[in-house]
Amino acid sequence: MTDAMSPRRVFYLTTPIYYVNARPHLGHAYTTIVADAMCRYRRLAGDLVFFLTGTDEHGDKIAQAAHKAGETPLRFADRNSAAFRSQWEALGITHDDFIRTTEPRHEAIVREILQRLWDKGDEIYFGKYGGHYCFGCERFYTEREIVDGKCPDHQTPLTYIEEENYFFRMSKYQEWLRRELEEHPDRVRPDRYRNELLGFLREPLEDLCISRPTSRLDWGIPLPFDQRFVTYVWFDALINYVSALGPLDGERFRTLWPHVEHLIGKDILKPHGIYWPCMLKAAGLPVYRRLNVHGYWSLGGGKMSKSVGNVVEALALTEKYGHDAFRYFVMREMPFGLDADFSEEALVARLNADLANDLGNLVARATTLLKGMGTLVKAGKGDQEVARAAAGTVDAVARAMEEFQFHRALAEIWAFIAVVNRYIDTTQPWALVKGGLQDPLRFDTVLVTLADALGFLGIILEPFLPNAAKRIREEALGHQGALRLQDAVVGRDTRSGGLKVAKLSGLFPRVDDKKPQVLPATPAAVPAAAMPRLSIDEFRRLDLRVAEVVDAERVPKSKKLLRLTVKLGEETRTLVAGIAEHYAPEALRGRKVVVVANLEPATLMGVTSDGMILAGSHGDTLALLVLDRDLPSGAKVR
Ligand code: MSP
Repeated sequence: MTDAMSPRRVFYLTTPIYYVNARPHLGHAYTTIVADAMCRYRRLAGDLVFFLTGTDEHGDKIAQAAHKAGETPLRFADRNSAAFRSQWEALGITHDDFIRTTEPRHEAIVREILQRLWDKGDEIYFGKYGGHYCFGCERFYTEREIVDGKCPDHQTPLTYIEEENYFFRMSKYQEWLRRELEEHPDRVRPDRYRNELLGFLREPLEDLCISRPTSRLDWGIPLPFDQRFVTYVWFDALINYVSALGPLDGERFRTLWPHVEHLIGKDILKPHGIYWPCMLKAAGLPVYRRLNVHGYWSLGGGKMSKSVGNVVEALALTEKYGHDAFRYFVMREMPFGLDADFSEEALVARLNADLANDLGNLVARATTLLKGMGTLVKAGKGDQEVARAAAGTVDAVARAMEEFQFHRALAEIWAFIAVVNRYIDTTQPWALVKGGLQDPLRFDTVLVTLADALGFLGIILEPFLPNAAKRIREEALGHQGALRLQDAVVGRDTRSGGLKVAKLSGLFPRVDDKKPQVLPATPAAVPAAAMPRLSIDEFRRLDLRVAEVVDAERVPKSKKLLRLTVKLGEETRTLVAGIAEHYAPEALRGRKVVVVANLEPATLMGVTSDGMILAGSHGDTLALLVLDRDLPSGAKVR
């Protein structure tokens, strides 16, 4: 704990900057939530904190996604970057800065660093390269890394590309980096990721291709020394961590950079653990203080790829169950550094057991007692058992947070909650007043202890459950003012003097878990209000039309599929619809239905479907969308 007299520790924490080709999802939210909890904790401890996040907006991936969406890359990036920003706002993330790689402040520093390396003469050279490229990862894969001819991350085929480009002479830093990692065992943690990096460094390190010809890709920062090329997206993105601090000889940079800690998922270990330190070294900048690496979430037991839509729906559960419950679940469930599985059932189980039962009941019981006694709680020393448990918890949480072990910090706080629940059970404060107050001193001590324990929870829970902690502090205890970890003490003489307590029940209402809804199977379980919003422009890109079914037949060997021939005005199309268990083919001929006309064709059981018929469903019932008044086929639906 920081005492008021000691100099403030400085803490600069970064999340990765997120690609704007995807909507914010569970994976992004996890990284951002743990970063937020860490920064809140360090602020509570009195440290000077700077928390950076942002969006990564250049490169093939974004250019392709923008093209698909029929937008310019910048317009596309503007919209999606804003979606990240508003998602973090909704989740109450307390970042100090949000950087976009399309901002002039970033582009200027990327150019400055490139120019620095170019001017040194031996850092960057022009050469020819042929290699297997993954458009998803935006990088070349070496033969050793390729699995079954595919990208090990995306499991998609790689494209062989040969072109002339600029290269960063990374190979010359191999020995230096190996020594760095040997000499600074806590530079990368958990340790398994440092070992993984040392493993990479046992093989010869290849130079890094740092440009893309504008003939192939022009969505990027032009190289200052050759405008025919733009900067490779990783060489651009990694620099955000320094460009956000302003000029490299400025005050902010000098104050914060020596303390920087990066937080990333394991999929981006190599760029952060290999490219980035070599880039910093070459640019004459000190290496980061620490790289903290977390594992990967899977969904419902399956492997979660970066492109699965369910991860977006998983994040929508924050609306259904509350932000605090979601935060609690992801931090409690995933031991930092290891992989974990996300399911709605597991979230509900933790919500009911840990939040509603252990914490919620404690707060309800204690505030009922404190209020029910009509008490203005008097000052006095708390019971030693609870006081000692509180002091032990502060230390244990500090140790866990030092290691980014969020699940352990929470387990420690819950051990304290169990102590207080037991304390109520054994002291039976309500029995102390039965038939007249026999031992007023004892009674006061118990009440003071409980009020202190609640005050303690209102502080120590703040990084993890900011809303619930605020309610305990303000609604139940009427505490206002500065929030400091050093005030999280049970049993200090004067703390609870003259406190007026209000009853706080239902802090975390129980959720009915009789019918648990498993995410991947029932995406409709997400309430409409929780679904991410579309802009009117996004909606307009859907081409919905009235279609007349002119023929319908079963798809051979399929129980579910019908092959429909429909007319859209003058045009005739084939559609495949999974409605054979609900509609006989003859019942459809001549009917007018609604279809999505501009979907990319998909082949189902050998038949290519050029569009999709719209239907609603509930349980086993399926109903087609039809018109309540006649319109010609091809008419637009909006
Ligand atoms: N733009 C790059 C990072 C550049 S940093 C200089 C990028 N962006 S990303 O949007 O694809 O991913 C960002 C973060 O989300 C990474 O830390 C990644 O590990 C995390 N996750 C994405 N999916 C995830 C899971 N399924 N589980 C846990 N985290 C995951 O990479």
